[in-house]
Amino acid sequence: MKICCIGAGYVGGPTMAMIAHKCEDHTVTVVDINEARIDAWNSVELPVYEPGLDEIVQANRGKNLFFSTDVDSAIREADMIFMSVNTPTKTYGVGAGRAADLRYIEKCARKIAEVCEGDKIVVEKSTLPVRTAESIKRILESNAEGRKFQILSNPEFLAEGTAIQDLQNPDRVLIGGDQTPEGKAAIQILVDVYAAWVPEERILTTNLWSSELSKLTANAFLAQRISSINAISALCEATEANVDEVAHAIGTDSRIGPKFLKSSVGFGGSCFQKDILNLVYLCEHFGLPDVAAYWNSVIEMNDYQKHRFARKVVSTLFNTVSDKKIAVLGFAFKKDTNDTRESAAIYICKDLLEEQANLSIYDPKVPEAQMLRDLELGEKDDSITVCGDAYEATKDAHAVLVLTEWDEFKELDYKKIYDAMHLPAFLFDGRNVLDLEALREIGFEASGIGKG
Ligand code: UDX
Ligand code: ADP
Repeated sequence: MKICCIGAGYVGGPTMAMIAHKCEDHTVTVVDINEARIDAWNSVELPVYEPGLDEIVQANRGKNLFFSTDVDSAIREADMIFMSVNTPTKTYGVGAGRAADLRYIEKCARKIAEVCEGDKIVVEKSTLPVRTAESIKRILESNAEGRKFQILSNPEFLAEGTAIQDLQNPDRVLIGGDQTPEGKAAIQILVDVYAAWVPEERILTTNLWSSELSKLTANAFLAQRISSINAISALCEATEANVDEVAHAIGTDSRIGPKFLKSSVGFGGSCFQKDILNLVYLCEHFGLPDVAAYWNSVIEMNDYQKHRFARKVVSTLFNTVSDKKIAVLGFAFKKDTNDTRESAAIYICKDLLEEQANLSIYDPKVPEAQMLRDLELGEKDDSITVCGDAYEATKDAHAVLVLTEWDEFKELDYKKIYDAMHLPAFLFDGRNVLDLEALREIGFEASGIGKG
C-alpha cells in the first residue's frame, strides 16, 4: 500500500517513521508545506528530538520512508492519507481562545479533493473536535465525481520524549470509522497496518464520534489528575504534609493507580490545554455549561499553579527579584524533548521578567531563538541570558529554578553551584526531582512543590 501523511510535525514524523519501520511492504511519504522542516527530516539533524527516532529514520529513509514537499503527487499516488497537521487553539473570531482552529485541516481536505484521482481512505491523526469527520466528508464528497472516500479517526496517544517507546508498544490503538460495510472494510485495512506489530486485542475499533471524543477525553482525564494533585500541593505547603508521600499513599489504591500523580509547576505541551479548551468549547456549543465549567477548572488550576510558583519565588527572595540574577534550568515542557509549547517555564519566566528579574536560562535542547520567541523578546534583550550549561547559568545567581526534569540536572555538582552563588542561595524544584535534604545540607534554602 502507498501511504501519505500530510504534516511532518511531532506526531506525523515519528508515527510514519514507525509505520515504515514495521511495515516494509508499505511505502510511506510524509509531506509538508514547510520546506525547511522537510529539509531537516532529510538531513542528519532531524527537526524533532526524540530518543530512538534517529535510528528508525536512518534505517528506513530512502527505502520505504520519504519526506517531501510535493504534496500533490504524494496525495495522488496514495491509497491511504493521514492528516497530521496542526490544530491550534483559535485566536480570532467565534470561539477565540478555546475552539480548535480547523483551517489547516480544511485546507488539507480541500487539497485532497482537488488532486486525488481514485478512491482513498482518509485518516484523521490530528486531535479534532468531535464530529469534524462530518465536515471533512462533506468537503471531499462535494466534488467527488465518482471517487469514494472513507474517513477514519485514528488519534495518536504518544507522549513526547517517549514517542518511539509509545509507538512501539502502545497501550492501545484506536480506530473509528463508519459502521457501514465500506466503513468497516476501511477500518480493517488500517487495523492490518498496526497488526504488523501491535497485538490485535490492543487495537480498538469504534464509531467515528467515539474515537474523536476519546482522544479529547483521555487528555482531559490525564490533565485532571495533574491539576488534582497540584491543588493538593498547595494544601500540603500550608500544612506540612508532603505531596510525594500523599501521591504515593493514594496511588497504591488500585482504583486510583500511581501514574500521572507527580505534582509539578504545571502541565505544558501542545495537547492538554488545547484539548481541554476544545472540550470546554464543545460542551458550551452543545448547551452544557456545567460540564464546560467543570473541565475549565482543570485549566484554571494549572494557571494558578504556574503563577503561584512565580509568586513564591518572589516572596521567598524577600519580596523583590528586581535586578537579581535568577537561574532557570530547563525550558522544554518536559524532559527529552526540544518542544516548548505551553511550557510552564514560559509563564514563570514572564512573571519574573515582569518583576524585573534578570534570567539566565539553560536547557540542553531548546535553542536560544526559540526561548526569545516564546518570551516575546527581541534578539538583544538584556533581561535574559541564554547559557551553554547549568554552571554558567547559576554563577552569581540568587536563586535556581528547576523547571524541567532533565536527567542531567540530577547529576550536577550542587556544592560547586552553591559556592558560586549569592548567599543565601535559594533553590526551587518545580518538578520535585531533586533530593531537597541533601541540598539543604550543602546550605541551599531548598523547596519543592507541595513540601511543607
Ligand atoms: C500528552 C498525552 O500523555 C499523550 O497521550 C497525548 O497523545 C498527547 O498529550 P505529552 O503532552 O507529550 O502527551 O506529554 P505528557 O507526558 O502527557 O506530559 C504533559 C505535561 O504534564 C508535561 O508538562 C509534564 O511535565 C506534566 N506532568 C505529567 C506532570 O506535571 N505530572 C505528571 O504526573 C505527569
Ligand atoms: P503536531 O504536534 O500535531 O505534529 P506540528 O505543528 O508539529 O503539530 O506539525 C504540523 C505540521 O503540519 C507542520 O509542519 C505544518 O507545516 C504542517 N501543515 C499544516 N498545514 C499543512 C498543509 N495544508 N499541507 C501540508 N502540511 C501542512
